[in-house]
Amino acid sequence: MSSDSTFHTDSRLIAWVDHRLPIFSFVHEHLRAYPAPRNLNYMWNFGSLAGISLVIMIVTGIFLAMHYTASAEEAFSSVERIMRDVQYGWLIRYIHMNMASFFFIVVYIHIFRGLYYGSYKPPREVLWLLGIVILLLMMATAFMGYTLPWGQMSYWGATVITNLFSAIPLVGDEIVVWLRGGFSVGEPTLNRFFALHYLLPFLIVGVVVLHIWALHRFGSNNPLGIDAKGPQDKIPFHPYYTIKDMFGLGVFLSIFAMVVFFAPNYLGHPDNYIPADPLATPSHIVPEWYFLPFYAILRSIPDKLMGVVAMFGSILVLAALPWLDRSPVRSARFRPIYKQFFVLLVIDVLVLGWVGAKPAEGIYVVIARIATVYYFLHFLVILPLLGKFETPKARPQSISEPVLKGGGHAATATAKPMEKA
Ligand code: HEM
Repeated sequence: MSSDSTFHTDSRLIAWVDHRLPIFSFVHEHLRAYPAPRNLNYMWNFGSLAGISLVIMIVTGIFLAMHYTASAEEAFSSVERIMRDVQYGWLIRYIHMNMASFFFIVVYIHIFRGLYYGSYKPPREVLWLLGIVILLLMMATAFMGYTLPWGQMSYWGATVITNLFSAIPLVGDEIVVWLRGGFSVGEPTLNRFFALHYLLPFLIVGVVVLHIWALHRFGSNNPLGIDAKGPQDKIPFHPYYTIKDMFGLGVFLSIFAMVVFFAPNYLGHPDNYIPADPLATPSHIVPEWYFLPFYAILRSIPDKLMGVVAMFGSILVLAALPWLDRSPVRSARFRPIYKQFFVLLVIDVLVLGWVGAKPAEGIYVVIARIATVYYFLHFLVILPLLGKFETPKARPQSISEPVLKGGGHAATATAKPMEKA
């Protein structure tokens, strides 16, 4: 075992391997002994849930790929064959389809948790930036995955989104042809999307490893947003948070099972059960629900190029967040005004999502414009100003202080503090 690790084993074989490749000490340090703040609430379950969702996506995806045919002629019917003839094919596909949605729900909650508790603030900026990279990769993967069944929404969704790049001045049209591998979405598009849809999740795994690495450099933030001061503020990850994560996973999988078994198509679009027809444009093209807020921003601006810039900008502005919000206080618990703007932002994003599913006409356009303007105002104007003018509430001296004072008796009676920080 490695000399600076607290890992101990009675097995001579494990000790022998660990001395040469300290993999057991590594797992011990990062998954068992890892000192975590003692006051993490259920909002801290979503990182591990995202990790488990990613694994489920990869495993079910590999099994689907064994039966799927990436050709414009056969893609649709190969998916139907999976649903009807492959043993438990329907289950594997419904898990894959719906877990994509659940994965986004989990990651969106994970991001809003970060926004509420100021987890993007120093020294966790790189951790946050890696999160944004993951989000972009997830979006690209989901978009390409939706093309694969080669239904009407697949085909026209891919057409609309690749066509966005034509807004780029001078070279836009060439880029679109290059992306599609032809003048319209077709066989070469489907083939490259399948190849990339298979590849990107593994890239996401790589970035998640960096994400956790960056997390473990300074340790988790916590609901109070103040730094852990010493051993009394921390507890070992195992068993305290492994058991809490397992409980969260049980609840998550129960809800997931209800959707998979009782409403597997609720989150999908019926038009995607019609085979792709390049000659029949659906009257109303909508992306998957998790893209709707961004789609609303895109359509809210009459100029195509500006719409595309605003859509990508709405994600990139998140990357600039650690530098836009300069308030030294992390947690919204001690930021009374920020807390209210946070609630407004959540409502604003929900409104964007709702309006993104409506036709881009009449009152919906007006609502989309107001919500888009407010979205950018929040990040570019309100947050920088709040950092200057808001008076935060007094914060406790340490994490253990409020835990030991009130409401936390049960937790303190059982939770052993760390021997060593
Ligand atoms: C595949 C997707 C992702 C996985 C598997 C993942 C995994 C994790 C895990 C396991 C943790 C520690 C547990 C927790 O704090 O909940 C964590 C923390 C964190 N993640 Fe992620 N994450 C993902 C995506 C993202 C995204 C998209 C963002 C932001 C844009 C993000 C930002 C953060 C931040 C700021 C923390 C530290 C939170 C704190 O200590 O308060 N993550 N992530």
